[in-house]
Amino acid sequence: MMIQSQLYYFSCVISLYFFFFGSFVLHALASSTLRYCRHDQRDALLEFKHEFLVNNTSLSSWNKSSGCCSWEGVTCDAKSGEVTSLLLDSISLNKSLEPKSSLFKLQHISNLTLRNCSLYGEIPFTLGNLSRLTLLDFSSNNLVGQVPASIGNLSQLRNIRLAHNELNGSIPISFANLTKLSFIDLYNNNFESTLPPDMSGFRNLEFINVGENSFSGSFPTSLFTNPSLDWVNLGENQFKGPIEFVNVSSSFRLKNLILSNNQFDGQLPESIYKFLNLEDLHLSDNNFIGPFPTSLFTIPSISLIDLSGNQFKGPIEFGNTSSSSRIPYLDLSQNKFNGPIPESISEFPSLYLIDLSNNNFTGSIPRSILTLANLNYLHFDNNKLQGQVPCCFWGLETIKLSHNSLSSIEESSKVFDETKMVELDLSSNLFRGPFPHWICKLRSLRVLDLSSNSFRGSIPQCLSNNSIVSLEELILRDNNFSGALPDIFFNATNLKKLDVSTNQLVGKLPKSLINCKVIQLVNAQSNGINDTFPFWLGSLPLLNVLLLRTNQFYGPLYHQFTTTTYLLGFKA
Ligand SMILES: *[C@@H]1O[C@H](CO)[C@@H](O)[C@H](O)[C@H]1NC(C)=O
Ligand SMILES: *[C@@H]1O[C@H](CO)[C@@H](O)[C@H](O)[C@H]1NC(C)=O
Ligand SMILES: *[C@@H]1O[C@H](CO)[C@@H](O)[C@H](O)[C@H]1NC(C)=O
Ligand SMILES: *[C@@H]1O[C@H](CO)[C@@H](O)[C@H](O)[C@H]1NC(C)=O
Ligand SMILES: *[C@@H]1O[C@H](CO)[C@@H](O)[C@H](O)[C@H]1NC(C)=O
Ligand SMILES: *[C@@H]1O[C@H](CO)[C@@H](O)[C@H](O)[C@H]1NC(C)=O
Ligand SMILES: *[C@@H]1O[C@H](CO)[C@@H](O)[C@H](O)[C@H]1NC(C)=O
Ligand SMILES: *[C@@H]1O[C@H](CO)[C@@H](O)[C@H](O)[C@H]1NC(C)=O
Ligand SMILES: *[C@@H]1O[C@H](CO)[C@@H](O)[C@H](O)[C@H]1NC(C)=O
Ligand SMILES: *[C@@H]1O[C@H](CO)[C@@H](O)[C@H](O)[C@H]1NC(C)=O
Ligand SMILES: *[C@@H]1O[C@H](CO)[C@@H](O)[C@H](O)[C@H]1NC(C)=O
Ligand SMILES: *[C@@H]1O[C@H](CO)[C@@H](O)[C@H](O)[C@H]1NC(C)=O
Repeated sequence: MMIQSQLYYFSCVISLYFFFFGSFVLHALASSTLRYCRHDQRDALLEFKHEFLVNNTSLSSWNKSSGCCSWEGVTCDAKSGEVTSLLLDSISLNKSLEPKSSLFKLQHISNLTLRNCSLYGEIPFTLGNLSRLTLLDFSSNNLVGQVPASIGNLSQLRNIRLAHNELNGSIPISFANLTKLSFIDLYNNNFESTLPPDMSGFRNLEFINVGENSFSGSFPTSLFTNPSLDWVNLGENQFKGPIEFVNVSSSFRLKNLILSNNQFDGQLPESIYKFLNLEDLHLSDNNFIGPFPTSLFTIPSISLIDLSGNQFKGPIEFGNTSSSSRIPYLDLSQNKFNGPIPESISEFPSLYLIDLSNNNFTGSIPRSILTLANLNYLHFDNNKLQGQVPCCFWGLETIKLSHNSLSSIEESSKVFDETKMVELDLSSNLFRGPFPHWICKLRSLRVLDLSSNSFRGSIPQCLSNNSIVSLEELILRDNNFSGALPDIFFNATNLKKLDVSTNQLVGKLPKSLINCKVIQLVNAQSNGINDTFPFWLGSLPLLNVLLLRTNQFYGPLYHQFTTTTYLLGFKA
């Protein structure tokens, strides 16, 4: 009779329900929610627990004192008592899932999540038995091997999450059967080979992340024929060749496109400008060529453009950027752009980061940059910029202007936020004149690099007022600084690196250096320092490089260092 195979339940104010173990047992439950558990489902769950958690206290609620539908992570169909969802997150199973696992007896399950459960081994082919699955989440485990072809049996699947495993091989051809998929996350595995050749069948697809794998082959044009597609990451793979989009219309929803770290090449196709909902576009570290893609900046919703690490060339021009007001991030670094940095860059009032480094930009730094109220990172290093640095954008967090031909810094008494700057790199330019005293006001500065310029005069005492407390690297190498290195290091408790080499410093090494408890490198070589050997530096526990050669050191050489020293060059 039916009563033999299925349990029947009665709902009343005092909850009553039955268990079937050969004889009926009656339990009274204080629970306010009634959930009914079918005995075959319960037994399958208990067997599943037993496969993994012998002698373990986790999943302790999985015991016969309550109905299985109230167990941790279990959801049942209210009428039939069949388990429809199993959600285990961060429960250590620490084993592989066997093909005969009783998990596969849960034929009615539609949501299966075993996320971050220390699952090892391969995904068994019997997974194909769970033909009602709509959600499969095995992400963040230690799964290896190929995805079984039987996955093609899961024709109801909408959501597959296998990210952060060590799965490999190719995606099975049968995957193309899963036309209801809207969410595919295979991020961070070892998948290789090509994507399925025709992905135009995924008409419901919204999200696909295959980033950080070893996929190869050409650009999956067919994928982009799905109008509902919203978020795509193909980054960090070995895809190559040109990119192309077909049949794109303005109703296509694509918002986020990540193609970074592949070997895509060729020019950007005109068709990319038809994705009118595009917001974030990451093209970095590929081999794209061609002129600056001005039209990208006319896409109404665009907010992030990363073109860095490609072979784009020629001058940059922003055209009519009426819609670009929200762009916070503009990375054009490591290309072959040249010509001036246009004043129209100020038409992006939301800019937070501008990275134009490693190009061939010429001319001077446009004054209009000063109007960018949200700017925090300015990286113009390794270009051919000349002339005067306009005053004053010293209220930013990072300014990198090294390896240009800049010659002066505009003097001004303008006030700026002295608490923000963390890194200032003016190295390898044509700066001359005295040490810029406003630097002494910077209270959060960690890295100051003025090396390889023609600064002259003394290194100012005022550095000890504010900056010295936060400074981790003070690099003044290869200038014309003269006088003695002042006693400014009393509060230099974060200083790791001090390089004053190749200047014209005289006098003695300042005794306050003894306060630099975390210093690792002191380079004072190629100066005129006239001192006895600073044996007292030997008490600094982390100091491992001390360069003093080509100076006027004299007297006996002490060997009291507790740490290694190198290149001690002396003139007696
Ligand atoms: C733990 O498992 C071992 C067999 O693996 C069994 O002999 C032992 O009784 C179990 N201990 C407890 C407390 O369940
Ligand atoms: C059985 O599960 C209930 C919760 O349903 C829990 O309160 C009880 O401690 C569990 N029993 C054991 C022996 O773990
Ligand atoms: C994964 O599970 C472990 C316990 O097994 C836990 O410590 C860790 O925080 C979890 N990680 C995530 C990302 O949930
Ligand atoms: C047993 O459970 C604890 C948490 O209760 C977990 O840290 C441990 O890894 C589990 N052991 C196994 C073999 O799963
Ligand atoms: C996982 O299982 C192995 C034995 O298969 C055992 O050595 C290891 O301690 C277990 N790890 C945890 C976290 O339970
Ligand atoms: C697969 O499902 C069938 C019923 O459709 C069942 O008889 C069989 O035992 C299941 N296989 C496994 C491994 O659970
Ligand atoms: C199953 O997963 C879907 C999302 O894919 C969710 O909307 C639904 O609520 C889940 N059902 C259960 C019972 O967890
Ligand atoms: C596919 O699902 C059917 C039930 O829908 C089942 O009988 C069959 O064994 C499954 N095939 C595989 C390969 O799992
Ligand atoms: C995929 O679908 C085709 C028909 O559309 C069917 O012949 C094939 O068996 C299916 N593959 C799997 C693995 O279910
Ligand atoms: C800059 O231009 C010079 C020629 O003037 C060329 O040799 C060099 O490769 C260019 N650098 C970049 C990054 O384009
Ligand atoms: C070191 O810093 C403290 C405050 O942080 C200040 O009071 C003191 O004057 C400083 N010492 C020197 C020598 O600058
Ligand atoms: C170095 O200093 C000593 C003692 O202060 C002095 O006698 C000597 O002349 C100085 N040498 C040079 C080269 O300045």
